[in-house]
Amino acid sequence: MSQYTFITTPIYYTNGAPHIGHAYTTILADAMKKIEQMKGNTPLLSTGTDEHGQKNQHSCEKIGKPIDVFLEEQSALFKNLFNRLNIDYDFFVRTSAASHKTIVSRILQNLYDRGLIIKKNYEGLYCEGCEQFKKKCDLDENGLCPDHQVKPKVISEENYFFRLEPYRQWLKEYITNNPDWITPRNYAKEVLSMLEEPLEDLCISRPKSRVWLGIELPFDKNFVTYIWFDALINYISTLDWENNEKFEEIWKNSYHLLAKDILKPHCVYWPIMLKAIGIPPVHRCIVHGYWIGEGGIKMSKSLGNVVDPNEVIDSIGTDALRFYLLNNMNSTGDAPISISLLLQGYRILANGLGNLQMRALKILDKNLNGIIPAEVELTNDDKKLLQDISDSFKSIYAQDLSLSMVNELTNQITNACSLVNGYFSSEEPWILAKDPSKSNRFKQVLKTTLEALSLIATAAYPIMPKISKEVLNSLNIPTENIITDFNIEKLKSEKIKVPEPLFPPLEKKVLEN
Ligand code: MSP
Repeated sequence: MSQYTFITTPIYYTNGAPHIGHAYTTILADAMKKIEQMKGNTPLLSTGTDEHGQKNQHSCEKIGKPIDVFLEEQSALFKNLFNRLNIDYDFFVRTSAASHKTIVSRILQNLYDRGLIIKKNYEGLYCEGCEQFKKKCDLDENGLCPDHQVKPKVISEENYFFRLEPYRQWLKEYITNNPDWITPRNYAKEVLSMLEEPLEDLCISRPKSRVWLGIELPFDKNFVTYIWFDALINYISTLDWENNEKFEEIWKNSYHLLAKDILKPHCVYWPIMLKAIGIPPVHRCIVHGYWIGEGGIKMSKSLGNVVDPNEVIDSIGTDALRFYLLNNMNSTGDAPISISLLLQGYRILANGLGNLQMRALKILDKNLNGIIPAEVELTNDDKKLLQDISDSFKSIYAQDLSLSMVNELTNQITNACSLVNGYFSSEEPWILAKDPSKSNRFKQVLKTTLEALSLIATAAYPIMPKISKEVLNSLNIPTENIITDFNIEKLKSEKIKVPEPLFPPLEKKVLEN
């Protein structure tokens, strides 16, 4: 039966252009959406931009544009990139939208009226990059924020606070009783260790004298809402939770995707906020590591070591970028990225899938007038090769959404391409073609190869949507509604043409120099 699956990405800060890290989480979300669609479910994907707080404010002040213009332009950079990446999002949240602001205000007023928000003075170390107060133990040996490599400022001010401690025990038990709530599980352990010590009250306001870009507190006009308190609510404001009669049905199968930098807000603050609001936690948090750029440190706008996704798309195309990212980030930690690694990834695709399609279709065209020999009866070994490939894809698609599931899918695509390329090479159809007595074997080899290609292209749809459709189209398979159909021997005796190469040789340009 069809069910909703709600998949979210973090909403991204608009203080700079999007980079590969932003592209990755959004591509992962899109791949998951496509997997759910293929399974016949009804996935909804929400992404967007986080447009308040000091970081955005400072960038806007530096550029000197009116704030609305600045936010609109910056947010458009993300939308444009996501369009180029073939991201099929259903919602694009902008926290500056009136609909979002109203919901945040209503939640704040409700918590305030119930005595869950209190005012007091606070002095602490503040990292602007994280938009968070830090404890000494959060800093590295030089007293710097490990993610942003800057010394946090000492800030003392009156603010409003939301008490987290009363919910700590509940959250600990929830995580212990739901071991897959945070996946991969090592991140659940990390969160449990954050819950060993009493939780400090969460400062949920910023004085307007310091931060003017934010949602005014409904009960004190001298303050704006702390950016994280505002941003996390996007996950329910995007569904218009109070007015949406399907909210519960959608929420019960919801997945938050995020990198480990924002584990604490998502896995400590957010479930506690939801508990106070009266909503159960998200179904699952899927956490991934960092893309490590040149210099061996996390790629980030503030560190200036970013790979520009638009440049990569210009050079190797969207699908090769999608494949590299989904194939190289796995559940064990961080992953390296550089231009030369991306080019290497492109060549692997060209030699694998690209070569497989081209050699099979060319020989078909040359010897059988381009007509698929669908009528030929395959040997048991040929059928077994196809069945093994089919079973491997079926078993991956049967899994619940996770980082490792998507990663395994990419590995299986690569493996299947090498397997079939190996089969094709060892059967030597170009020699069989010359001997009329081997005509039956020739047809069997071609049919097996093309059937395998159709399985691989179907399985690859969530990872490389455009390439997948190109391959399926080249085999005359309809692509309006690609589903998890891994039945073997589906091809018809139709005439097909040799298409352009999927991964043409790269011109010696842009990226390599
Ligand atoms: N605005 C907050 C999120 C609020 S969600 C309620 C924020 N924005 S961000 O622009 O800094 O984006 C952080 C997210 O972008 C990460 O959690 C991850 O999804 C993605 N990435 C940004 N840099 C990354 C890497 N270097 N590596 C992997 N993912 C990264 O935090």
